[in-house]
Amino acid sequence: MASGRSSSLCSIWVIVLLVGFTGSSSAQLSTNFYSKSCPKVFDAVKSVVQSAVNKEKRMGASLLRLHFHDCFVNGCDGSILLDDTSSFTGEKTARPNNNSVRGFEVVDNIKSQVEKTCPGVVSCADILAIAARDSVKILGGPSWNVKLGRRDSKTASLAAANSGVIPPPTSTLSQLKTRFQAVGLNERDLVALSGAHTIGQARCTSFRARIYNETNIDASFAKARQSKCPSTVGSGDNNLAPLDVQTPNTFDTAYFKNLINQKGLLHSDQILYNNGGSTDSLVKTYSGSANTFNSDFAKAMIKMGDNKPLTGSNGEIRLNCRRPN
Ligand code: HEM
Ligand SMILES: *[C@@H]1O[C@H](CO)[C@@H](O)[C@H](O)[C@H]1NC(C)=O
Ligand SMILES: *[C@@H]1O[C@H](CO)[C@@H](O)[C@H](O)[C@H]1NC(C)=O
Repeated sequence: MASGRSSSLCSIWVIVLLVGFTGSSSAQLSTNFYSKSCPKVFDAVKSVVQSAVNKEKRMGASLLRLHFHDCFVNGCDGSILLDDTSSFTGEKTARPNNNSVRGFEVVDNIKSQVEKTCPGVVSCADILAIAARDSVKILGGPSWNVKLGRRDSKTASLAAANSGVIPPPTSTLSQLKTRFQAVGLNERDLVALSGAHTIGQARCTSFRARIYNETNIDASFAKARQSKCPSTVGSGDNNLAPLDVQTPNTFDTAYFKNLINQKGLLHSDQILYNNGGSTDSLVKTYSGSANTFNSDFAKAMIKMGDNKPLTGSNGEIRLNCRRPN
């Protein structure tokens, strides 16, 4: 008994030390962070997101992706929003982002509305987290209470954005798992979050190799995609195709059904359902249960949003999301 108790005391210390050393400050985020200082932030963000999505459905997907690409590079700190300055080159031209990430004008509009309502209070990093939630909800997906209190970075890192922390679409399943693990997300989170590809578009350059060279792809689907994505590198690179062939503007489970039918657009999509792989059964579960997918997606989004935020007196509340104060 005595040795049992000392070993459980010991595990508690290990946990305390691990939390201390990994520096997870997620405990400092809270859903009521602005309840006194800016209770209208939610209405302000939602109305701008709603009109942007009314104008162009795809914008919901683009805003969701901005939060992902923000959180995976040095934590959710709004760094992706920074334009280049004389002292640093930002993340916008990094390989995963260049000619690809979009929605910055919408974030500017949200920020100016929020600044009118509560000047100097709400961070750009938090705006991305709320806009991502609103986008998903507006397109028919789940909602969740967004944890808030992130502050904005004073700099951005092109090198970090290019370092592979945002995995490329050519990744193997094991590489995807490693990249997600590095930000505290497990295999279940990986599959749930990949379900974000139930909305939005990809460029030919992101899926060319798959539609011409892979064998785990539906033949007529491949042919249809090839018709607008020439095999020659440099030709039609920016031509778009929907990530979800069935319902690209609706947040539903069609993405997972597509994977089962070998109609995943990206290599990194189809690898999640591939001949007995470790994630096959979860893809099947999500394909048949919107409730399970929605609930897991919401949980995983909250986890992703917890990644290394700047809090307390770290960072700043940017007045313009594109540049440090
Ligand atoms: C699992 C690893 C992931 C990989 C390898 C990946 C890769 C990609 C690629 C290559 C594109 C198309 C980019 C282009 O061609 O311009 C894309 C689009 C997109 N991704 Fe991911 N992604 C991953 C995870 C995620 C996650 C976790 C989210 C959000 C939670 C997400 C949300 C999106 C959305 C919404 C789009 C469409 C954006 C638009 O239409 O503007 N992705 N992703
Ligand atoms: C980003 O894309 C533009 C073309 O739109 C290109 O001129 C530029 O070289 C690209 N930047 C990087 C770093 O790849
Ligand atoms: C397909 O694979 C062949 C052989 O590896 C390669 O030469 C070709 O460039 C690939 N095609 C595409 C579109 O990736």
